[in-house]
Amino acid sequence: MKKEEKEEEAMAQEKRLKERMGKIKHKIMVMSGKGGVGKTTVAVNLALTLAAKGYEVGIMDADVHGPNVPKMLGIEDESPDVTEEGIVPVFVPPRVKVMSLAFLLQSKDTPVVWRGPLKMGVIKQFLTDVLWGDLDFLIADLPPGTGDEPLSVAQLVPEIDGAIIVTTPQDVALLDSRKSVTFAKKLGIPVIGIIENMSGFKCPKCGETIDLFKTGGGERAAIDMGVPFLGRIPIEVNIVLSGDSGIPFVLEHESEAAQSFRAIVDNIEYIMKGE
Ligand SMILES: Nc1ncnc2c1ncn2[C@@H]1O[C@H](COP(=O)(O)OP(=O)(O)O)[C@@H](O)[C@H]1O
Ligand SMILES: [Mg+2]
Repeated sequence: MKKEEKEEEAMAQEKRLKERMGKIKHKIMVMSGKGGVGKTTVAVNLALTLAAKGYEVGIMDADVHGPNVPKMLGIEDESPDVTEEGIVPVFVPPRVKVMSLAFLLQSKDTPVVWRGPLKMGVIKQFLTDVLWGDLDFLIADLPPGTGDEPLSVAQLVPEIDGAIIVTTPQDVALLDSRKSVTFAKKLGIPVIGIIENMSGFKCPKCGETIDLFKTGGGERAAIDMGVPFLGRIPIEVNIVLSGDSGIPFVLEHESEAAQSFRAIVDNIEYIMKGE
């Protein structure tokens, strides 16, 4: 391609990105300092809870190396249709659209060995070429830390509403989640709030609560950093099972975790509407 053609294509892509994103009311990124703290669990359950309230929702799985969103929704064997207009995201009833690199990989066991620019390229394509349509919320599920993927989402998504930071209550996780808050602030992205996940475990036999990873740290970090605290989710066996079986726990269980989760979503809705 000649230089002018390349420039023209880049401009057309930019225009498409703006148009597509312009049809989405709220864009949220789910981040954390550490891996395995529950970002994907939060992202899919948030999407399904919002959809149950009548909102049109999209989930963009921006975890290029560990795209787990399809697995957690039980749709890992689906694949998006590709049409002249763009890529049709996979639909999860009642009103959730999902796009993930997992749909496009040939084997579930193949690792993605990509450097920054390629990762930015795929995220750009998810934002530009996926037919999201009119949405109330687009939720980006990110890998841990403050690397290429969060940076790409932060830089590419116009008028992003903010970041939700997931942490567990112990000191190492908190230290890292403070970095996520600083990252968001540096990039001018509002912090919607911190969620403390894996906060206490109620013994199913005796009913006593055990603070496996301590408790209360997420709230202290939120107060310290001057950002909202959205709530805490206890450790529950249900959540592990539902993550593996592809049925989000908020839909399946009337557990304490499901109730806390719904209260967290109410808080998020309240904060988003207040803007
Ligand atoms: N509150 C919780 N109680 C029990 N298991 C949980 C809880 N939150 C997440 N998990 C489980 O922990 C694992 C990691 O969660 P995941 O959402 O994949 O984290 P991340 O996306 O931050 O790497 C998954 O197996 C998930 O089902
Ligand atoms: Mg994840």
